[in-house]
Amino acid sequence: MRLIVNGQTHEVEAPADMPLLWVLRDIIGLTGTKFGCGKALCGACTVHLEGEAIRSCITPASAVAGKRITTIEGLTAAGDHPVQRAWTELDVVQCGYCQSGQIMSAAALLRRTPRPSDADIDSAMSGNVCRCGTYQRIRAAIHRAAELGEVKS
Ligand code: FES
Ligand code: FES
Repeated sequence: MRLIVNGQTHEVEAPADMPLLWVLRDIIGLTGTKFGCGKALCGACTVHLEGEAIRSCITPASAVAGKRITTIEGLTAAGDHPVQRAWTELDVVQCGYCQSGQIMSAAALLRRTPRPSDADIDSAMSGNVCRCGTYQRIRAAIHRAAELGEVKS
């Protein structure tokens, strides 16, 4: 199958039902996207499909062939997406395991809703679990990212 990931085309040999998460990590070598539950319950595996947040652990790679996939590695070339800048500024991360998924969900939210309310944030981020409990800093950082500028992904 042909996958378009972070603007690059990859010809991949894999079973049609192989989850996108494992194609990204084990075949293409992009390990920024994490495995948490494998059941769409935690959000650690969140990537963008045509700019919308999806759970790559339950998405067969064959279902997204030819579509634009973005991972944390490709959110921006320099790692300076407003969400990433806000995350750094507010020191959001604790252990870090959940955070690429958190950032990808936040980036998708801000693309849809450039000035989200607390309720918008809580709703959009409710599927992203953080065992370290960084939720308050995540919410503050999303507001900060909204201040930092126009969000594209
Ligand atoms: S690993 Fe995909 S939602 Fe948990
Ligand atoms: S920062 Fe540790 S799980 Fe979220």
